[in-house]
Amino acid sequence: MPYGTVERSRWLFIQMSFSVPNDDYGGKKVCIEWRFDHVILLVEDLEQGSNHFQHLGFSCAGEPREQSWSGPSSMVSLKEQVLRKGSFALRLQQPVRGAGLPIEFMKKHGEGIYCVGFAVDDVSAASNEMVRKGFPVLHSVEKGDGALLATYHDTREVVDIVVALGEYDGTPRVGATVDTAWTLEHLGVIVSDIHRAREFYESLGFAVVVPPVTLFSPDLSKRILTECLLIKNGFVFELMEPIDEGSLWGEFLRHKNGGINHWSFAVNNLDIEHDTMVAKGFCPTSIARGTCDSLSEVYYDTSLVGNIQTCLYNGSSRLTFENTMRFLIDIGIPVQKG
Ligand SMILES: [Fe+2]
Repeated sequence: MPYGTVERSRWLFIQMSFSVPNDDYGGKKVCIEWRFDHVILLVEDLEQGSNHFQHLGFSCAGEPREQSWSGPSSMVSLKEQVLRKGSFALRLQQPVRGAGLPIEFMKKHGEGIYCVGFAVDDVSAASNEMVRKGFPVLHSVEKGDGALLATYHDTREVVDIVVALGEYDGTPRVGATVDTAWTLEHLGVIVSDIHRAREFYESLGFAVVVPPVTLFSPDLSKRILTECLLIKNGFVFELMEPIDEGSLWGEFLRHKNGGINHWSFAVNNLDIEHDTMVAKGFCPTSIARGTCDSLSEVYYDTSLVGNIQTCLYNGSSRLTFENTMRFLIDIGIPVQKG
């Protein structure tokens, strides 16, 4: 979704405003704050997937490895390749045998992102807090000493996205990475009921940045979608409920049963990035220009693998209600509250 831009100092201020470093847990102060770390994207063919994302500009981090996803009565073996684009980490996984959640996800949605991982300082405390709130553990990984390394929680109530909390390397993935070529701003999630989805993510600790607004076609003839933005410590979900069934978003809901359909990155110079993307063969599906006729935001069809579209926009954050509205007006998209 398009937004306006703000200076980087403002972006960092926004990040800090939403940072809640500590929480009471069991009588002691522990840090259970989430810091975005990675996404897990399921693919049919790891090598093909890895090649696709390298072509998009990601680099492999380490060699492929095999791991497992256990469940109450199932076990899935997965081949994994970690890739990075700047500070953004992508774990590509191909189920190779067994039965269980990742395979069920692919049957229902095809390829796609099924897990968003956050680093926490105390996995056990953060995981217990999730369980207490009603999000049970689906799968856990232990370290050699038996302590928890990561827990995967059942947060699939509105869309099939699992939240992982882990003792990852702790490198901030959002906000502190403005010098990299691409900086993640948000993940776009297609939902069938935006009000239910909003309530759900609020129950996970997300705060509303932009309450539901309806976007129209430029000639006002069609209502396209309703969307809202929620943030948790700098990480943003953009929830979108399609209204126009024939739109890109409506098609995704109908054919993929909802879920994450795009990732959106800020770039320093969209004109240069645009030339690179087009030269690589990634077609723009939507181009937004500002009043100065310069490129403001472009969606590229990168969905050949992973059913994920890539959105690039010029500048850094636009994550306030005012900036969102300003940008929509600037590029000529009529919008209405609610
Ligand atoms: Fe978006």
